[in-house]
Amino acid sequence: MPNISGKHISYWIDSTPTANFPPLINNLSVDVAIVGAGIAGITAATLLKRAGKTVAVIESQQISTGVSGHTTAKVTSLHQLIYADLIKNHGEKKAQIYAQSNQAALEFVAKTVTEQQIDCDFSRQSAYTFAETEDHLKDIEKEVEAALKIGLPATFVRETSLPFPIVGAVKFDNQAQFHSRKYLLHLIKQIPGNGSYVFENTRVLKVDEDNLCQVTTDKGIIQAQDVIVATNIPITDEGLFFAKTYPKRSYIIGARIAEQKAPVGMYIGSGEKYYSIRTTPDKNGLLLLVGGGGHQVGTVENTEEKYLDLENYARSRFDIDSIDYRWSTQDFVSFDKIPYVGKLTPLSKHTFVATGFSLWGMTQGTLSGMILSDQILGIENPAADLYDSTRATPFLTPQGIKQNLEVGAHWVGDRLKGLNKSLQDVAIGEGKLVTVDGDKVAAYRDQTGDIHAVSAVCSHLGCVVAWNSAEKSWDCPCHGSRFSCKGEVLHGPTVKDLKKF
Ligand SMILES: Cc1cc2nc3c(=O)[nH]c(=O)nc-3n(C[C@H](O)[C@H](O)[C@H](O)COP(=O)(O)OP(=O)(O)OC[C@H]3O[C@@H](n4cnc5c(N)ncnc54)[C@H](O)[C@@H]3O)c2cc1C
Ligand code: FES
Repeated sequence: MPNISGKHISYWIDSTPTANFPPLINNLSVDVAIVGAGIAGITAATLLKRAGKTVAVIESQQISTGVSGHTTAKVTSLHQLIYADLIKNHGEKKAQIYAQSNQAALEFVAKTVTEQQIDCDFSRQSAYTFAETEDHLKDIEKEVEAALKIGLPATFVRETSLPFPIVGAVKFDNQAQFHSRKYLLHLIKQIPGNGSYVFENTRVLKVDEDNLCQVTTDKGIIQAQDVIVATNIPITDEGLFFAKTYPKRSYIIGARIAEQKAPVGMYIGSGEKYYSIRTTPDKNGLLLLVGGGGHQVGTVENTEEKYLDLENYARSRFDIDSIDYRWSTQDFVSFDKIPYVGKLTPLSKHTFVATGFSLWGMTQGTLSGMILSDQILGIENPAADLYDSTRATPFLTPQGIKQNLEVGAHWVGDRLKGLNKSLQDVAIGEGKLVTVDGDKVAAYRDQTGDIHAVSAVCSHLGCVVAWNSAEKSWDCPCHGSRFSCKGEVLHGPTVKDLKKF
């Protein structure tokens, strides 16, 4: 295995304490149950509690240790290159609502930080999407034109503080960055009390809607008037959101850099292969965060290469001292580039979802919390129609077709892989698909030589999982469920561990 640098944990998680909320012990009843304590769930809970509702936030792991604890945490309406496409595919009016709602989410975060004096390294920054070659310059120019047309604070620039040449960039002024977990830990502490609760280590298994909604967990049952499923991708399959999005995994490193050598602002490249760049203060000075290497979940086995590529990029482009951190996470990309926020299905009256943030959930997760709390409180939200989760869905965009074909290919192709392997082929620290007595087995050999054998058939809808060598996990290429090397659920849509052999 190549030598990868950096402590293998998200800086956001490493630099914050655990929250230590209890698991659910007794069945109970609240106005609104919120499943998932990431930015979408916690924002909704905050707003609902503020409006006088009793809420229960139910988290299967720990607060903000999902995607929101592994993000790059730029808070911006500049989503790489999106506005020219939105105007072309959805029209100027909808593009403008997208822009305004993301700006509103950014300002909601800023206002909350100021009002509550949240110590979360929040700072105003300019955001840039840059082109390094003439090939992508046209896209940058088109984005500036589109953004200006709908009232965004865009300019075209040729100079930035990046220590390498670019040919041009779109710049948005007055955007922001923060420490996402410090922000969310502050908000969640205000939830418990006066009939409201926060539960950690409590996995929701299903949500049923009748006169009252019933949330069944592995520890008991919660009844609620309304339920928000904010599990990044809904764990409730009825709305078929797993088929209206695709799971994209991406990698981040945190490198030590001297302040005078660090770029000022938040950056993202353009083209097929691009990197995301920002700095964050930490107790020893400044970390340069560099992200990239995105791919559909479960389609790359040798994920160590992704970290090595980031390290090479950081060392060749910046004068860094060391690589201190590395981590990765995934988000669900909506085929029409617009998140799904609203009812679970057209027939749902009280079950709500938020997903498809396409790697821009610091604003889109925040705006989901704003929209869903308004819907539950009966307040009209001007952005609700744009994000309507029950809208006619472009399963059939060229990208959607390609993704579905890839999923289909995995469905069939994966079953043919690994047939000739035996458990002896699995080296220490390695995971392999093997066939044992006709069963497809996902086998991992730990450092002591013991084999952990679980079913290779994903507990969601039955695709075959694939090994992820850097994270030592079993990842499903179909809809992005992930499992530890011992088969425990790490990421939905599934709620069930892999069957143990
Ligand atoms: C590499 C990367 C970099 C990114 N950088 C940025 C950025 O710079 N700016 C930006 O705007 N966005 C960024 N994003 C996107 C953003 O981080 C996400 O969109 C956002 O964090 C998603 O929030 P969430 O609340 O939907 O999910 P999460 O934060 O994952 O929260 C969902 C929670 O639900 C819990 N859960 C799941 N299943 C269950 C269950 N059965 N029962 C109970 N709880 C459950 C999970 O444990 C989790 O804590 C990035 C994404 C990636 C992948
Ligand atoms: S995530 Fe759907 S089949 Fe695995």
